[in-house]
Amino acid sequence: MSISARNITGRFMLNDQLNELRARFDAALAAANDEKTLETVRVTYLGRSGEITLLRRGIGQLPPAERPGAGKLINEAVEAMEAALTDAQARVESRAFDAQLGARIDVTFPSIAPRAGSIHPVRRVIEDACRYFQHHGFAVVLGPEIEPEYYNFDALNIPPDHPAREGFDSFFLTDTLLLRPHTSPMQIRTMQQHRPPVAVVVPGKCYRRDAVDARHLFQFYQIEGLLVGEDVHMGHLKGMLTGMCRELFGPDQQVRFRPSFFPFTEPSAEVDTTCPLCRGEGIVVRLAHHDAAATQCRMCGGSGWIELGGSGMVHPNVLRNMDFDPSVYSGWAFGFGVERMALVRYDIDDIRRFYENDPDFLYQLS
Ligand code: PHE
Repeated sequence: MSISARNITGRFMLNDQLNELRARFDAALAAANDEKTLETVRVTYLGRSGEITLLRRGIGQLPPAERPGAGKLINEAVEAMEAALTDAQARVESRAFDAQLGARIDVTFPSIAPRAGSIHPVRRVIEDACRYFQHHGFAVVLGPEIEPEYYNFDALNIPPDHPAREGFDSFFLTDTLLLRPHTSPMQIRTMQQHRPPVAVVVPGKCYRRDAVDARHLFQFYQIEGLLVGEDVHMGHLKGMLTGMCRELFGPDQQVRFRPSFFPFTEPSAEVDTTCPLCRGEGIVVRLAHHDAAATQCRMCGGSGWIELGGSGMVHPNVLRNMDFDPSVYSGWAFGFGVERMALVRYDIDDIRRFYENDPDFLYQLS
């Protein structure tokens, strides 16, 4: 579109063109119902390569005397068109708002239920084990996670050069302070503060230089138990631990005491309980089509047992260290891995799962 130079009455010609353009512009505005369409209209008419720009280019071909008048005409038309565009924008906007206000909300529509959190399975095992012992008259006590060597070793009958330190000397913070590798230091702290009868359980975090795998973590929980009094014997230990396993894992649970060694107990025993996966069979039978295939249980490696921790009768040297006369007093102690207990209780094949914080995993156990 251009203003014809041949036309002497270029100005009248421009007027007609502007009127015609404006009529089309107004029609397009009136038909536009959303912001996107309005923007297209603006670009087509008022944009940098729109129709108005084309008209302006024609000004140069008019006789010089007519050019200012033509420019003025176009400017006035643009001003009016811009005002009309602004009005149309306001109209579209308010219509969109009205539509929002008018939208009907179904207040009876079922909402998405939030997932309720739950107590962590390891925490639940701690609480239930503590409750079992509390029912039997034990107190629950907590101790520091950083201990001097005295509580970790010396007082527990592990002298400086004893090879048994090897398994426990893990994370030293100074020459003599370390992150406790077990909860047994609390045996000492408790006996320092209380004369017999002493009956406590101690849940808490421990740290060891262990390679992480399906059964081991370098940071884990233990629950320690200690009973000291007159006539305390190994039968009490076996009875209490068997009772705890049956309470936590089920009435059919078997418990096995395997001879072992700890410097702070004599005799010492490792405590195993029925593997939850193969129920003590050592093999798992899978039905595939019409065949049954028996494979070695991957949880217990075929033994049928899962180790929970150590136990034994408190060593006379430990009693003597505490000024308890071993000819009058005797006692037992145990220390179990809580994650191991949780494996057995919830039938989990890998201890690391407890700390991956996978909500779906935790949700299943809640
Ligand atoms: N403290 C030992 C350990 O961590 C377990 C244990 C506790 C053994 C109490 C005997 C008595 O392995």
